[in-house]
Amino acid sequence: MTTENATQTPIKTPVLSANLYAQRRAAVARALGPRGLAIIPTALERQRNRDSDFLFRADSYFYYLTGFTEPHACLVITGDGRSTLWCQPKDTEREIWDGFRLGPQAAPAFLGVDAAHPMGSLDTELPKMLENREAVFYPFAIHQGLESRVAGWLNKVRERVRYGALCPEKQLDLCSILDEMRLIKDAHEQDTMRRAAQISAKAHVRAMQASAARLRAGQDLREYHLDAELLHEFRIHGSQYPAYSSIVAGGANACVLHYRADAAPIHDGDLVLIDAGCELDGYASDITRTFPANGRFTGPQRAVYDLVLASQEAAVAATKAGARFTDPHEATVAVLSQGLLDLGLLDKNKVGSVQDVIDSRAYFQFYMHRTGHWLGMDVHDCGSYVEPSELNDPSLVSVRKDPLSGETITQRPSRLLRPGMVLTLEPGLYIRPAPGVPEQFHDIGIRIEDDAIVTATGCELISRDVPVVASEIEALMRA
Ligand code: GLY
Ligand code: MN
Ligand code: MN
Repeated sequence: MTTENATQTPIKTPVLSANLYAQRRAAVARALGPRGLAIIPTALERQRNRDSDFLFRADSYFYYLTGFTEPHACLVITGDGRSTLWCQPKDTEREIWDGFRLGPQAAPAFLGVDAAHPMGSLDTELPKMLENREAVFYPFAIHQGLESRVAGWLNKVRERVRYGALCPEKQLDLCSILDEMRLIKDAHEQDTMRRAAQISAKAHVRAMQASAARLRAGQDLREYHLDAELLHEFRIHGSQYPAYSSIVAGGANACVLHYRADAAPIHDGDLVLIDAGCELDGYASDITRTFPANGRFTGPQRAVYDLVLASQEAAVAATKAGARFTDPHEATVAVLSQGLLDLGLLDKNKVGSVQDVIDSRAYFQFYMHRTGHWLGMDVHDCGSYVEPSELNDPSLVSVRKDPLSGETITQRPSRLLRPGMVLTLEPGLYIRPAPGVPEQFHDIGIRIEDDAIVTATGCELISRDVPVVASEIEALMRA
């Protein structure tokens, strides 16, 4: 057995259905209506500085419908079920510098599209395809400059109206069709997301063990040391990149919600909050663990940790098909509110009962974000958070004033959970020093985040290859 085999559990590779993307394109075509046309560009390349670009990542909608990762490409789907791709032409010199291009000739056989053309012909060919269509669909407010390009293409159609051409009268947001499709993850997507979460869990384990090992060895420990461990584990298992900027926050930095991995020293006795997940083949994972840098929780750290974990357990129990998206959040808030009173972080003589804490949102001082979000190709994935089947019933809409901000909030029925939806469950408590806050809890910031696939009877937590129970984290960090 080689060393490599001995130390790495292999991550399973999925079987990709060859016509998966064609099936998705066909579903879009049906939703367009017979005289509709949809335009789906990939992302633009972005300059980082001078002649260096940011690493290119395909647009999520485009990738969902093609599986194609080259830049400078655009997909068009028409209501008759045909798909046409524009892509970079073959170019020996550019391929020497930038790498292989599929090219329009090979694209139909490789990607299953009906036709493909070089990108340079898009401005002349697309107006011809738009003639005599009823509606043009494209993702609104996603691609900078796309709205004005569509206007330019439509103008070219108008120029031909005197020759009998009809110009589309409707422009519609393609996101509403694609977001509903992407919200329910098919078997291939679920499998990819499981593998992404397994890799991220390994990365968290590695960072926890590195933290304790460095402190035991008397070495300097900085946030970037742990960020490096995460990146190593992501890449060694084939993840293309982190799904979002990793948060590695030592001590009080954990109370900054959007903190990034930086250079701050991490001390013996500090907690470390790591919120990091890899992206694998276009799909994100999103895991947070909070652990003692030296591997042993102090009493106050453990008390707050166990409360956050109990609130997450309540969220997990509330996540099942037929429940509302807001149910896990409400379950979390009920447990946290009781715990804040029990720990003396909220004074019942000032804030009243648990129900008062919930109604007045007094918990907001320590818990100021939602308990989760959709997860998929984008870390904060697309998909409506209100229930579409109940949108048009005015009796289900209520308006209230928020007790803290004074904002008027319109409440619509929250989304009903269905099997195949994927969401995060990520309660936390962030205790900044303030009058009345017991000193033993000052600067403790804890979040616990797992990724859940909704099933008929509950949910499958796909990110639990890294321990979450305090004693199990301590045992892992002793190893
Ligand atoms: N990492 C971003 C989030 O947890 O939502
Ligand atoms: Mn996260
Ligand atoms: Mn998250």
